[in-house]
Amino acid sequence: MLRYADLPILLENVFPDIQKVHELLESEAPYTPLGGWYNPEADTHKRNRPMWFQNDWVHDVYQAEGSELFLHNPVYIETAKSFYDAEIIEPHSVYVNVMAAIEDGGPAHTDNPRFHGRERANTPMWLLRAMLWSDLFDDYEIVQATAIWWLDDVEGGGLYFWPDGPEKPPHHHVGSMANTALIGDNHGMFHQVGPVGPFGKGTILVTPAAELSPSDNGEWVVMDHNEEIYRAPLRNYRVSVLWKANVFKSLDEREEKSAQSLSMQDVTNIFNEDLEERNVRIRLSSDNIEDSEIIAILTGIYNEPKPINALRSVFETIRA
Ligand SMILES: [Fe+2]
Repeated sequence: MLRYADLPILLENVFPDIQKVHELLESEAPYTPLGGWYNPEADTHKRNRPMWFQNDWVHDVYQAEGSELFLHNPVYIETAKSFYDAEIIEPHSVYVNVMAAIEDGGPAHTDNPRFHGRERANTPMWLLRAMLWSDLFDDYEIVQATAIWWLDDVEGGGLYFWPDGPEKPPHHHVGSMANTALIGDNHGMFHQVGPVGPFGKGTILVTPAAELSPSDNGEWVVMDHNEEIYRAPLRNYRVSVLWKANVFKSLDEREEKSAQSLSMQDVTNIFNEDLEERNVRIRLSSDNIEDSEIIAILTGIYNEPKPINALRSVFETIRA
């Protein structure tokens, strides 16, 4: 199935008091290079990461002081209710990206799905994504609302997004981005960060051990194994803050869906029934779930589309 999404809703002048966000950014420093799903290489002495720094402000077991500015933002919650025509919006995550000097795009992607009973902590990411693209688990998916907010206008740093589906050209949010937010469906809609300035020096690479922090004179500095790699005022970095919330149409839906929790056995059974119907001979089991051949076959069958007119991802360039 190709996924379509309504156009995200643009909010302007989101925070009347930006100083509070600055304080939060400073108190939660340092920021470290993005790793994970798109960039698993972890050799701490290799310069294999762009200056794409991140930090979690709110997750399952942590909530940064002052982050309720984002987490419980009433405008976000009301906008998400109207976007999804839903009564229940449960914010659960806030995280921040700080980027500079990246000449390629970020990866064009949809955000990682969540299902009742199955998520990152207990299920391999490739399997969660195969579950998403198979459409066999739609009844179990926990719908996610996303807000992305930007601090300043920087050189480049726009957002490309594909609300009309991956086979139609992307829309862009670029230029006047300062203190705006887009609220929409980043799990159904492909999106990608455009090249981030300053341009002209290529993509500056750091090791996974690099750290970004504010310095005494107010500039933000990238240190990497005791070497200063980069320094600029914060307004020259692309700072975006992401917010995610569970979406339920009603309390009844919330109760009903929460009661149907998927076990790993349920997941393998549902896939195996579908494989049988497709006359594919392999079967998924808890023993072969990390097997690269099985992964290749299943991700081939439950294939993730590539959105058109996407920029090359900086992570592909680094790996090439
Ligand atoms: Fe994303």
